[in-house]
Amino acid sequence: MYNENEEDRLRAIIWREGALELLDQRLLPNEVCYRRLSTSAEVVRSISDMVVRGAPAIGITAAYGVVLAAESRYSETPDRWRELINEDIEMLAKSRPTAINLHWALQRMKQVIAMPTGNPVGRLLKEAITIHKEDIISNKCMGRLGAALLGQRSSVLTHCNAGALATGGYGTALGVIRAGHTSGLIEQVYVGETRPWLQGTKLTLWELVQYGIPVKLIVDAAAGALMRMNMIRWVIVGADRVAANGDVANKIGTYYLAVAARYHGIGFMVVAPTSTFDMHSNTGTNIPIEQRSKDELFTLGYQIVAGAGAWNPYFDVTPAELVSVLVTEQGAISAPNSEKIAILMNEKILISNLTDPVSKPVP
Ligand code: MRU
Repeated sequence: MYNENEEDRLRAIIWREGALELLDQRLLPNEVCYRRLSTSAEVVRSISDMVVRGAPAIGITAAYGVVLAAESRYSETPDRWRELINEDIEMLAKSRPTAINLHWALQRMKQVIAMPTGNPVGRLLKEAITIHKEDIISNKCMGRLGAALLGQRSSVLTHCNAGALATGGYGTALGVIRAGHTSGLIEQVYVGETRPWLQGTKLTLWELVQYGIPVKLIVDAAAGALMRMNMIRWVIVGADRVAANGDVANKIGTYYLAVAARYHGIGFMVVAPTSTFDMHSNTGTNIPIEQRSKDELFTLGYQIVAGAGAWNPYFDVTPAELVSVLVTEQGAISAPNSEKIAILMNEKILISNLTDPVSKPVP
């Protein structure tokens, strides 16, 4: 079972006294400020405006958003709440396009809504808390599974933020790095800045410093040189959506890291819970990629440094053939493909039973 302890201290999402508190990630690392939300409309805005980031964190936040929606719908129109809450769920579903955990979490909440009940708030809150706790259990499980695959003590590169901030707690890619560090397998972590929102600089660096894990920042474009100079053995990243064939959508820049890693014979590890898998997308080409404003590329700090046309896709797709190993809470698979993923997804292990990692042999 899940027990909170010291390593769970850093939380991006807290349910406290009937409201949702989100750590405003736009202000990190300079300011640690939690925003208190009491309506689902505020939750939608917080997801769209990037207060909360990362696929699992977005899903968990949306689940709590449904609780807030149910509270107001049921108290205002107890006879029509089920019909009216669909509008709120639709707004939540549209808040960010790429992270599939959002839809996965809303689907779970819809199943609870469909149950015959009087006041639904208690049940929905219970489900949201379960989704939240399960995510932390999954992350710890993936951390141990991924760390066991690292082999000898070495340095690694990560991209964007896939830590406690991007999840319910502990982290996916950073979960592996944390578990690896505890086992003495991580010498040095390099993290790319992750232009244009700088999740690497502002979030991952901040997290790793707090955990006491040696970390060095690089500009995104330095990753090739890092590999060429033999300075890392693994690239370890999270995912926003994994297609049924193992193609991985993640923060823009992930694809070129995978290409460079393959060229240099470096391992490319993707760490994502099964809630990030989209079995309706056969391949990565079906995954919607968020496009953001060109202004993000022309502004440094608050200063506009240029202005013209720009192309600003926020995620890219790494083909499965470039993924050395895909780590989930259900097990790890090397060289992922449709067949291996179908087997993994069909052998669902109850997350509440995952006190110890159930390691599948890497074929
Ligand atoms: O745009 P963001 O900050 O929400 O993007 C986050 C990422 O791309 C993460 O790498 C991804 O969600 C994996 S999170 C565990």
